[in-house]
Amino acid sequence: MNVLRFSDLIAQGKVAGKRVFIRADLNVPQDDACNITEDTRVRASVPAIQMALDAGAAVMVTSHLGRPTEGEFKPADSLAPVAKRMGELMGREIPVIANWTDGVDVKPGQLVLLENCRVNKGEKKNDEALAQKMAALCDIFVHDAFGTAHRAEASTYGIAQFAPVACAGPLLAAEMDAISKALLAPKRPLVAIVAGSKVSTKLTILKSLAENVDQLIVGGGIANTFMLAAGLKIGKSLAEADLLDQAKAVIEAMKARGAAVPIPTDVVTAKTFSADAVATVKAATDVADDDLILDIGPQTAQALADQLKKAGTIVWNGPVGVFEFAAFENGTKVIAQAIAESSAFSIAGGGDTLAAIAKYGIEKQVGYISTGGGAFLEVLEGKTLPAFEILTKRAAG
Ligand code: 3PG
Repeated sequence: MNVLRFSDLIAQGKVAGKRVFIRADLNVPQDDACNITEDTRVRASVPAIQMALDAGAAVMVTSHLGRPTEGEFKPADSLAPVAKRMGELMGREIPVIANWTDGVDVKPGQLVLLENCRVNKGEKKNDEALAQKMAALCDIFVHDAFGTAHRAEASTYGIAQFAPVACAGPLLAAEMDAISKALLAPKRPLVAIVAGSKVSTKLTILKSLAENVDQLIVGGGIANTFMLAAGLKIGKSLAEADLLDQAKAVIEAMKARGAAVPIPTDVVTAKTFSADAVATVKAATDVADDDLILDIGPQTAQALADQLKKAGTIVWNGPVGVFEFAAFENGTKVIAQAIAESSAFSIAGGGDTLAAIAKYGIEKQVGYISTGGGAFLEVLEGKTLPAFEILTKRAAG
């Protein structure tokens, strides 16, 4: 993708003394007392900010937090906990500025956090007047919010249209590069793992990947629907019988390209969905009417692991079993370890996937872990995200 990069502007000496507005994604999970429970996005946002400060810019950073009602700021909407955490990471006090759209007092070398941008009226609808006001605050707009790259809002899209200069920050650029490497010019075989409870929520992803990948490994409830489509019984397992034709179409599309959707040969079943349910390993052809399939069996896990080890590129979204329960975690664990041991370039994203990566401690062995939730899924769907669309347009002049 041909976009202007913030690192290029810095290398060209075009940032010193300039007013830089960075849109980050600091939308982090918090507990009831507003304490941050997981700070990956804050840590991932620091490099762009530090780069801007080191280059001598006056730096304004903003993000949304949650989904507040526009025009009705409540204390729980505040980015103050984020400012505190970011301040600890950067070793400096970071003031939070409220009501900032009409002007921000910030000097070169200073850093301010502009309060939750989704509280501004017109943000979600990408109101042009609001976007123009934001653009007027800066000389350079840096889009570094990959997690919000699928949204066209005033602080992500409109400002990029109107700012004197609009570029991609290092996080957005890294995500873009990793995605291009995995999906646009992958080293083959390209293996994708798409798991989750419902085919319906990931049908577009499955269809899009079916045109590109060499192996499409399905897991969770999605695999159950594919097992049904392959003529297997799945007992009372979660599945969507109304999507059988769609599942069959994906299998056929893959076959026509000489690619495959591996169907499990064995599974782990239980009679109830609970952590202490008795787990039984059985052949995929032996599932009883009152069985629930809660994981892939060891033979299937091993066969998939062997394929992952031979892969050139791996895209991972979703655990293949109920990995939160010890008795049903083996499939996901074996897959995670195979990805870790594979020499393939791997890219992973999605909340449950990140939790599995953390559980099995393979963070360092995954080629790229995306900070995007919905944004990552939309990329897998084959969509061009608004962030890339507008930055490409701006780069083309
Ligand atoms: C996310 O958490 O996926 C992003 O921050 C986007 O948030 P949104 O779905 O509220 O736009």
